[in-house]
Amino acid sequence: MASVNVSIIYYSATGNVHTMAQAAAAGAEKAGATVRLRKVRELAPPEAIGSNPAWARHAEDTADVEVATLDDLSWADAVLFGTPTRFGNVSSQLKAFIDTAGPLWQRGALADKVVSAFTSTGTAHGGQESTILALSNTFYHWGGIIVPPGYTDPIQFKTGNPYGTSYVSGAGGADGGPGADVLQGAGYQARRVVDIACAIKTGRAAA
Ligand SMILES: Cc1cc2nc3c(=O)[nH]c(=O)nc-3n(C[C@H](O)[C@H](O)[C@H](O)COP(=O)(O)O)c2cc1C
Repeated sequence: MASVNVSIIYYSATGNVHTMAQAAAAGAEKAGATVRLRKVRELAPPEAIGSNPAWARHAEDTADVEVATLDDLSWADAVLFGTPTRFGNVSSQLKAFIDTAGPLWQRGALADKVVSAFTSTGTAHGGQESTILALSNTFYHWGGIIVPPGYTDPIQFKTGNPYGTSYVSGAGGADGGPGADVLQGAGYQARRVVDIACAIKTGRAAA
């Protein structure tokens, strides 16, 4: 069986997506992959971060998480992207990182990556699907192989989002962070990504 390299690349201001990214990393590792967990570079000015205690605290708590580079994309057989929803869309921080990937795209180095995405919103109808679908626009341009969780595991009937694991954090984070079902969903999504990437790699090696 082929060994699979997985990058989990995410942005998180107040920690929800970070927690989901950690669960995805654990799920991918458990499935036998070699995993890189990477946050993207913060772009917001210090005064914006400082004006929100949860944001400032999370930035401090995750200071030691490595910042994503283009090598984390080219190295990976599969990439899981995590972003909070921002006005129904991808966070500018994650998008800015993606927008540095032009040279990789140009030489075809992003083609055939297995890709998948997860998100967190404040409200139930605040744009989880629109955020994940917006990320998918990029995946089409790359020639990525999009692997959604669908309803392919019982946990999906509990968490309920076939597009990608999603968490509703509540007003001002009132819900206290992703619970067991969401974390199990993130782990399952990562496992599915590893399984598919492994099947593709193994099949190609045998062809
Ligand atoms: C500028 C901004 C825009 C946001 N837009 C939305 C939105 O469109 N829909 C929604 O439900 N929540 C929205 N939120 C809330 C966040 O998506 C939510 O708090 C999320 O859980 C944050 O994830 P994090 O803790 O990983 O940063 C927004 C938050 C900010 C700061």
